[in-house]
Amino acid sequence: MNSIVLSVMIMQIEHPENVHLIRGNHEASDINALFGFRIECIERMGENDGIWAWTRFNQLFNCIPLAALIEKKIICMHGGIGRSIHAVEQIEKLERPITMDAGSIVLMDLLWSDPTENDSVEGLRPNARGPGLVTFGPDRVADFCKKNRLQLIIRAHECVMDGFERFAHGQLITLFSATNYCGTANNAGAILVVGRGLVVVPKLIHPLPPPIHSPEASPERVGDDAWMQELNIQRPPTPTRGRPQPEVDRNSLAYI
Ligand SMILES: *[C@@H]1O[C@H](CO)[C@@H](O)[C@H](O)[C@H]1NC(C)=O
Repeated sequence: MNSIVLSVMIMQIEHPENVHLIRGNHEASDINALFGFRIECIERMGENDGIWAWTRFNQLFNCIPLAALIEKKIICMHGGIGRSIHAVEQIEKLERPITMDAGSIVLMDLLWSDPTENDSVEGLRPNARGPGLVTFGPDRVADFCKKNRLQLIIRAHECVMDGFERFAHGQLITLFSATNYCGTANNAGAILVVGRGLVVVPKLIHPLPPPIHSPEASPERVGDDAWMQELNIQRPPTPTRGRPQPEVDRNSLAYI
């Protein structure tokens, strides 16, 4: 079974006071099927057990918290505040388990929205990820933080080259911890350490140099790489923030 998903879940069970999970847009059955999780379950466990495990994982994903507050001053969510989220209570009111289908526009915004291209683009704009999705400007971030007495929004959802990137004059940080995303993005990863007084310090994780393919490399390792490359061909890319995007069919699911 997918060892990363399991490791994260085990960490959370073992340390429930210290490990908190936040749901992302890939914690939804249609999206993770598209990205190979369903096939992976079937290939590892066989048709019946694989589908059963995949279904159970997705039932669990429907229960994952949708946002987290740190000391009532920092809010964390996967995507952002989109067009619809004006008060923290709107998020607190969402009852779990919840599927994306059953979810409101609030859920869609939480898991799928992005900040606008840069701080000079205000208001709400269409999101290139797909119809019905929005990007929100620094003015929205400032209003939301002021109204809810927050200092900072921390979100993920886009690959950023330095692992973290400021927006809205530092009132929003995009955080991306996976280095060299999909083996091709060449990005650094980052984590944020929140210290006393809620001072936020980024720690960078540098991307590894490309692996050296020697004859001694274990067959399993080579197999893993091939599996990854195969998946990369099939799956739509997560957009890399601030880089020109390849021209794509806007009707396809190209921006996930
Ligand atoms: C911000 O984005 C807009 C819209 O794409 C662009 O026209 C402008 O040049 C960008 N500004 C900066 C400072 O990058």
